[in-house]
Amino acid sequence: MTEKQIPIITIDGPSGSGKGTICQLLATKLGFHYLDSGALYRLLALAAKRHRVALDNIESLAVLAGHMDISFNMNKDGTPSKVLLEGEDVSLLIRNESVGSDASLVAGYPEVRAALLQRQRAFAVAPGLVADGRDMGTVVFPDADAKIFLTASPEERAERRYKQLIDKGESVSLAALVEQVQKRDERDMNRTVSPLVPADNAVVLDSSQMTIDEVLHSGLEIAIRNGIQPQQ
Ligand code: DC
Repeated sequence: MTEKQIPIITIDGPSGSGKGTICQLLATKLGFHYLDSGALYRLLALAAKRHRVALDNIESLAVLAGHMDISFNMNKDGTPSKVLLEGEDVSLLIRNESVGSDASLVAGYPEVRAALLQRQRAFAVAPGLVADGRDMGTVVFPDADAKIFLTASPEERAERRYKQLIDKGESVSLAALVEQVQKRDERDMNRTVSPLVPADNAVVLDSSQMTIDEVLHSGLEIAIRNGIQPQQ
């Protein structure tokens, strides 16, 4: 089966838009696989640290991106259970802030993005794929059947992050988080390689005033309208 025959839904957007949650729910509802492309950049950042590859050594980073030993374990319902780097469970480790900021750095190199392209496309297997990222609909799966660009206001995204951090027992200022979100948006949308922009044929959904159920419902509707059939 070629990649084109596999039904693919792409969901791109900034962090805090609710993409990860919606992609996983949508993949479960449809019985499809799920690609968390951000995790690949995070895994590369962690692998680089472990193998003492400097974050400005672009050539070695690209080689590592193509060869790093990673796997995604899935639950029976298709949701991710564990992310492994060289056999070790690093699911929690890759979520920490310093790995996130290193990931953002390595994601800015075109050579790294090129080295991860085929690895991402390899997730497109039957019965279908929900792909979560920044450039899924524009670069990685330009022929996807349905494309969604999920966003939310910077204030709303900062507020969501604020709640997550407070729940983790960390003390943070909401105003500082709003500023951080705006700065990151600016950088992501203006970088020269794979900037965060909606694909021409993407449906833009603003989740600021929507519940998770409402976003999921819209996502399913968009998928079905584009000829995608749930598996169950
Ligand atoms: O979604 P996330 O926070 O896990 O992504 C980690 C970093 O990788 C973030 O800085 C954005 C970047 N990224 C990217 O450039 N392209 C993607 N398709 C996914 C993530």
